[in-house]
Amino acid sequence: MNCDLTEKAAAAREKALAPYSGFKVGAALETRDGLVYTGCNIENASYGLSVCAERVALWKALSDGARDFRRIAIVTEGEPLTSPCGACRQLLWEYCGDIAIHLHSLDGLDEQYQLADLLPHPFDKRSLR
Ligand code: THU
Repeated sequence: MNCDLTEKAAAAREKALAPYSGFKVGAALETRDGLVYTGCNIENASYGLSVCAERVALWKALSDGARDFRRIAIVTEGEPLTSPCGACRQLLWEYCGDIAIHLHSLDGLDEQYQLADLLPHPFDKRSLR
């Protein structure tokens, strides 16, 4: 686990707007040239409009022109560790490919996966050829 990336995700988590779930998430997405884009979850009274931390980080990165990614750190509190939701897996696969996914809990748990292992048999542009 890259501590610096985890620390950035933990700092982003502090900014979470999660009054409905009370579940704060932070994410830090690193490009291959070392830039880091952070995100937190942002909820809405119309629950379905809430956005995950991973997606906020991804949109920030893409809208800034970043295209080549190495890994993402996701920080929550408690057990079990939080793994990206299905929609975020799909979006990360589309734009980041098979990046490393670092999961960290403020309670000291750490796990690392490759996105391809979390999203086997993906639907992607190859399916549309
Ligand atoms: N959430 C994330 O931000 N990332 C995840 O990987 C899982 C879920 C958020 C969405 C919502 O604001 C809250 O956690 C509860 O689902």
